[in-house]
Amino acid sequence: MSQFQEKTQITRIERLTENIVRITLDSPDIASIAKPGQFVMIRTGNGKDPLLRRPFSISQTSNSQHFQILFKVVGRGTSLLAHSREGEYLSVLGPLGNGFRINCKSRNCLVGGGMGIAPLLFLAKTMLRKCPNTPPLVVLGARNREELTSLVYDFAELGLSAHTATDDGSLGHHGLVTDVLKNLDLGTNCTSYVCGPHPMMAAVHLFCKDRNYGCQVSMETNMACGMGACLGCIVPVTKGGYGHACTDGPVFDAKELVWEVK
Ligand SMILES: Cc1cc2nc3c(=O)[nH]c(=O)nc-3n(C[C@H](O)[C@H](O)[C@H](O)COP(=O)(O)OP(=O)(O)OC[C@H]3O[C@@H](n4cnc5c(N)ncnc54)[C@H](O)[C@@H]3O)c2cc1C
Ligand code: FES
Repeated sequence: MSQFQEKTQITRIERLTENIVRITLDSPDIASIAKPGQFVMIRTGNGKDPLLRRPFSISQTSNSQHFQILFKVVGRGTSLLAHSREGEYLSVLGPLGNGFRINCKSRNCLVGGGMGIAPLLFLAKTMLRKCPNTPPLVVLGARNREELTSLVYDFAELGLSAHTATDDGSLGHHGLVTDVLKNLDLGTNCTSYVCGPHPMMAAVHLFCKDRNYGCQVSMETNMACGMGACLGCIVPVTKGGYGHACTDGPVFDAKELVWEVK
């Protein structure tokens, strides 16, 4: 699988909310081969602060020329990235990992929570192209209206109206995305494509397992190298031992993983 490490120019920076930022990068090498669910490792600062690259999902590509990342500022690396300027160059490694496997023969349901929504936009676009007769259902959850509105907008532009849930009830269902899933007509042959906080993915996995639905999850573990060299991203797997989220994932069949049920 091809991967590139290159200096990539920032062509656009958009602040969607106070702490959610979208950056467009000019990279035909990465944009032309990236698959939904794959990620890039980005050096967010100069020199050794922070030392390690940070992982970000590819949230969409355009014209095999540009790709975008969509992220929330949570610490040093994301804060530095948010303060980059258009025209600057970033050192980017990617595309990395294994993405979602699209099944056009099933009812497809994209389920995103918080910044886990980022890779689902690329997936939705690709599904609409590959499976034009079966547009996916979209179920998105976030903390509040402000966060969710900024993330839902792009799906609406694709003609996909998302079923929504917020923790505080300020938009859509007041509660969990799994409550929303239970009220949808998903038929007997459905596959969920999930990215979000671990407890949410565990709940969607159980929901799908009970109904014999397919379920693919994207594991956003901590990552130091992104290339299988550091063991920083290991996840327990049902066949025994551990898998690397960076090289075996980040997208796994949920049944391949050991889920801690609390
Ligand atoms: C494959 C993959 C794809 C990702 N895609 C996106 C994306 O599209 N958009 C986005 O906003 N974030 C994404 N993340 C998470 C993102 O990498 C982290 O938020 C980022 O590395 C934090 O860096 P920082 O230096 O700002 O924060 P740090 O100073 O490193 O950490 C600040 C806080 O964030 C927590 N944190 C760090 N990494 C993660 C993580 N992976 N998951 C949950 N909490 C974390 C830390 O525990 C700490 O509490 C992805 C992670 C992975 C592994
Ligand atoms: S991040 Fe280093 S092995 Fe996966």
